Formats: sequence, structure tokens, C-alpha cells
Amino acid sequence: STQGFIFDLDGVIVDTAKYHYLAWKNLANNLGFDFTEEQNELFKGVSRVESLKLLLEIGDKTISQEEFNQLLISKNEEYLEYIEKMDASEILPDVPKVLMHLKDEKAPIALGSASKNATPILEKVQLLSYFDTIVDGNDVTKAKPDPEVFLLGAQQLNIPAEQCIVFEDSIAGIQAANKANMISIGIGDAKVLHEADHVFDDFTKISIQFLNKLIAG
Ligand code: G6P
Ligand code: MG
Repeated sequence: STQGFIFDLDGVIVDTAKYHYLAWKNLANNLGFDFTEEQNELFKGVSRVESLKLLLEIGDKTISQEEFNQLLISKNEEYLEYIEKMDASEILPDVPKVLMHLKDEKAPIALGSASKNATPILEKVQLLSYFDTIVDGNDVTKAKPDPEVFLLGAQQLNIPAEQCIVFEDSIAGIQAANKANMISIGIGDAKVLHEADHVFDDFTKISIQFLNKLIAG
């Protein structure tokens, strides 16, 4: 039976998690409160709208719908300034090696990201062609930890959820993969991502042997 591979984008394929953090931190500072890296862990994988709601809770701020929409726009404008300058050097270590191996083995590959900026980022770093399908923040209504984004990815690959493997750097994303009955592989800190089935610091720690076991199912 064929196994499908679903990759998160920010913090898994490219080093953009730091740019999301910088933009949210700036927004918080402008509103008069701080936003720490530790608090940011709960923002990873979370949609733009849900992130702003969380941030306003942290700062104990109530704002109008109009101001809310304006802050969403200015956060994204700052984020877009960072990603405009991106190139292939911001691909995380050994990501191309893993994608190439999966392609050589004819494994189906999907993107499963909450970002509405996913396709332009993949184009910028020249990885778009590896993906058989892209599911992103433009396709889903329910944010991670809801499994919608990964279930849609599996559906588009035409692979049962139980035969999918998800690579994620966020707590919300690992929870979404687990709820979808997929194998969850955390990329990052094992203490933060303890709910994952497996955790690796980064893709350099994942052997071809381990990948082949996943491919074989
Ligand atoms: C990813 C990131 C989040 C980000 C979300 C929406 O899941 O991990 O930090 O808030 O995408 O991204 P967007 O590019 O649409 O603002
Ligand atoms: Mg991520």
C-alpha cells in the first residue's frame, strides 16, 4: 500500500517561523506589551486570525472589528517584506534531500499549511515542483489543531489518512495530525513536541533507512 507524505511549511521546509514571530512581536510592542518566544510556540501552525485573537488575549486588549482587520493587514505587510527577500538559502537543512528521495521512490507528497502565503514562498525557494498538491490557508476553514488541512491533503493525494505521515514543527500541527490518525513527526524540540510519534531536531537527523521504513508502511 502507498504511503502519503504531508509537509507543513513554516518552520519545517523554510525558516519563516522567525519572521512570523518578529511581525507578531512588533505588533504586540506597538500595542504596548511584550510577546516572548515561549508564548510564540502556541502561535506556530495557528492561522492569522486565530493568532491575532490569541495575541490580544495575551495583551488583554479589546479592539473594534475594524482595527482587528487593519492589524491583520499590517502584520501581513511586515511579514511579506521579510519573505520578499527570501531565496533557496532559507530552505531548512536536508529538506531537498528528503523531498528528492521521496520523489525518487514515487511517494505522493502534499503541503499542509495554515499559511495563505504558501505558494509564493515555495516558488521563491524553488520547491513548488516537488508537491503533488498544495493545501493551505486558502483552502480550509478550521485552523490546526483541527485536522481539516491534513485530511484534505490525504483526500487530494487519494491516500487513506491512516497511511499518511505528517512533518510538523508546531504543537497545534502535531495535535491535528494525531486527530487525523496520521503518523506525526515533530521537527524541533522533543520537549515542546512530546505529543508526536517521533521527534527529530531537523531533517539531518532523519536517515534514509528511517524514510524507507515510512515509505514501506
Ligand atoms: C503557519 C505559521 C503561523 C501563521 C500561519 C498563517 O501555520 O506557522 O505562524 O500564522 O501559517 O500564515 P499566513 O502566512 O497566512 O499569515
Ligand atoms: Mg509550522
